[in-house]
Amino acid sequence: MKFPKDFLFGAASAAYQVEGAWDKDGKGLSNWDIFSKIPGKTFEGTNGDIAVDHYNRYKEDVKLMAEMGLESYRFSISWPRIIPDGNGKINEMGIDFYNGLIDECLKYGIVPFVTLYHWDLPQSLEEKGGWTNKETIEAFVNYAEVCFKAFGDRVKHWITFNETIMFCKLGYITGAHPPGKINAQKEYFDATHNVFVAHAKAVKKYKELKQYGEIGITHVFNPAFSVDDKEENLIAASHANYYETFWYYDPILKGEYPEYVVNDLKNKGLTPYWTDDELQLLKDNAEKNDFIGLNYYQPQRVENNTEVVKIIEMDREKSTGRPGNISFDSVYKTVMMEDKTYTKWGWEISPEGFLDGLRMLKERYGDIKLYITENGLGDEDPIIDDVIVDVPRIKYIEAHLKVVKEAIKEGINLKGYFAWSVIDLLSWLNGFKKQYGFIYVDHKNNLNRKKKLSFHWYKKIIETRGEEL
Ligand code: BG6
Repeated sequence: MKFPKDFLFGAASAAYQVEGAWDKDGKGLSNWDIFSKIPGKTFEGTNGDIAVDHYNRYKEDVKLMAEMGLESYRFSISWPRIIPDGNGKINEMGIDFYNGLIDECLKYGIVPFVTLYHWDLPQSLEEKGGWTNKETIEAFVNYAEVCFKAFGDRVKHWITFNETIMFCKLGYITGAHPPGKINAQKEYFDATHNVFVAHAKAVKKYKELKQYGEIGITHVFNPAFSVDDKEENLIAASHANYYETFWYYDPILKGEYPEYVVNDLKNKGLTPYWTDDELQLLKDNAEKNDFIGLNYYQPQRVENNTEVVKIIEMDREKSTGRPGNISFDSVYKTVMMEDKTYTKWGWEISPEGFLDGLRMLKERYGDIKLYITENGLGDEDPIIDDVIVDVPRIKYIEAHLKVVKEAIKEGINLKGYFAWSVIDLLSWLNGFKKQYGFIYVDHKNNLNRKKKLSFHWYKKIIETRGEEL
């Protein structure tokens, strides 16, 4: 079977991780510009000041993407590049940059797939409480409208937010992302709710503008499975799914929060501050949402937790996805299992978990349109005789694309696949050491670009529409 004609083969990036030019051409400060410079927060103090200089080299990069045969490029817009202080004057030079990038994509027939928020919040908004402050909702909707009006004639695929769970949980529970708060449970749930409201309002605004494209949100897809059939572990896994998947997917796709979590939060005194109007807005939005994007890297293996933990403070390493964590409410923990395979960073490699998870989603949410908006392998790629031999990445993507194919055969409504990432980029907490790209960036040699083995492999997959997979 070949992948259907309307299935998009793409690859992705995010502004802070590739652009650099952090203080150029009128850009305002983001929370990451500040946070990454606090000693100890990132691997060897790395930051996105220069990143891989995509801001200056996007033409070269897009040309390489075209050579690879990429059908779509998912990138994000830096909010403080467009509106430096978050909710004030528009920076025309920021608009010019993205116009250039979008036009460059279109020149080669590459479909721009644009994320509005991939974590770089204007610092001035962070200082006023970030996502716990409802003013941020209105600022976001205003920013989204500016982008729709400036780019919507050419951009027909919009993602509002990337991975709400990550920037909220790491921002308010583990402290590994800005604003760096630890165990601020009430703020965590308030922030998630405000993001869902901002999403719903942005979708509403987009539909009112009648630009006739599609709009959705991207979530982490991290399905939880019990380590065995013991009842207490099955309950732990279900609890994990409710808190880490359904809490995020239900308000978007069903228009209401899962009752199990709502009741549990009430008992814990953690009900977010919400109004009836906001809850109604979520309800009304459920039908307007066009798709959901899934970022799948690994499932989680879960067991019941009996340790009493007062403060969940995690080190950087554990915050970046390695199992071995206790949930914020001490109900369950994630574990590594002997019979599973892991990457160098301790992430499980599990195409099976991907398929089982997709089936779980179909069962709960029906035929909603899906895109895989991220999937890939973080590795240190070997260089042999000047060739970047990233065979494990090829194997990883191949196995996951096979799952995508199988899922389509089973009737799951999957419309595209974006590998993470198009080019080696800054991993938020792991610096440049952890590579994901099809294109290598030589940090010792003027950030020169070089094609990896996977570049040629993916090109062939796209050309043949995955027939051999
Ligand atoms: C996703 C993010 O969570 O995972 C990306 O959307 C990120 O921005 C990717 O780079 C991989 O994570 P990490 O920690 O390995 O860089």
